Amino acid sequence: MYSKIIGTGSYLPNEAVTNDELAARLAKDGVETSDEWIRSRTGIEQRYLASPNQTSSDLALFAAQNALEMAEVLPSEIDLIIVATTSPDMTFPSTACLLQAKIGADNAAAFDVQAVCSGFVYALTTADAMIRAGQAKKVLVVGSEVFSRMLDWKDRTSCVLFGDGAGAVVLEASEEAGILASRIHSNGRLSSILNVSSSIQGGKVVGNPFMYMDGQAVFKNAVSALGDVAQEVLDAANMSAEQLDWLIPHQANLRIIAATAKRLDFPMEKVVVTVNQHGNTSAASVPLAFDTAVRDGRISKGQTVLVQGVGGGFTWGANLFRF
Ligand code: ACO
Repeated sequence: MYSKIIGTGSYLPNEAVTNDELAARLAKDGVETSDEWIRSRTGIEQRYLASPNQTSSDLALFAAQNALEMAEVLPSEIDLIIVATTSPDMTFPSTACLLQAKIGADNAAAFDVQAVCSGFVYALTTADAMIRAGQAKKVLVVGSEVFSRMLDWKDRTSCVLFGDGAGAVVLEASEEAGILASRIHSNGRLSSILNVSSSIQGGKVVGNPFMYMDGQAVFKNAVSALGDVAQEVLDAANMSAEQLDWLIPHQANLRIIAATAKRLDFPMEKVVVTVNQHGNTSAASVPLAFDTAVRDGRISKGQTVLVQGVGGGFTWGANLFRF
């Protein structure tokens, strides 16, 4: 028994903000940046920002509806919803439960996965395991983020990197090969290089409510983690990189993506890149890139795809599947 992806969907908020527009906004607060700096260091040209009243479950709803429509599956047929998010609507209940109500998936269990930018890969791995264990037949997996809410707009080293969005897939139990191999990892000793360290105590936010990132440490660890885990899933599926049709790494930074492709000796023409258009959307980045490439006709049915996540925790992982 396999789990197979039968539909993809995504959603971006209406407000696209180019680097020049962002630089002009930040300049009003005395924060200096430029299109040239952002583009040359990260490959990012623009990002989408959610409106103040939009939440992760709102973005997730549109992405999920698109995926269900492509899969020709009704919300009532879904028996499990997993949402990967680091920017949940509430402390509890989970964003997955809020999505379950909004979409009307009356027969679904629902929970969130918190693995920051690796969240979608963790969620897909969990969904695949649940299907193969016979616990679920049709699963909705969503990555959704309003990451912009956690950014310190006075910290130019981090605020220019991120955007908001959502991506989703529908998985179904199948006798035909779908997900071929998955691997997930963590190293909590690296929690200090990327975090939002605050918590709620006695009704107050205690600690730093903004994202902190040691960019160079993240860069170094991301490149080695992505290279290693790609090789691990290829080995687990008895495949070589040449047999892959597409590589979809976490969309954090074009330089990390290019360094990963180089480590695998994999041509950039077969790497899906959307970070230039979306910025880093954390748990939403991989399903957003996947759905973009499915809908623009690059990825077609029957092709072999390797998706990868890496992020705060430190966490990383990969899934290899036949679409
Ligand atoms: N605009 C203009 N100048 C800037 C900006 C900015 N937005 N940000 C930093 N600078 C300046 C710095 O102040 C510094 O100036 P100085 O030399 O006068 O002190 C100079 O640019 C170089 O700064 P560095 O931090 O050394 O720049 P670096 O080349 O390392 O690039 C970057 C920074 C882009 C963050 C890089 O380290 C990186 O890509 N790291 C990976 C981080 C990442 O992608 N994180 C995503 C989240 S984690 C994840 O998703 C896996």
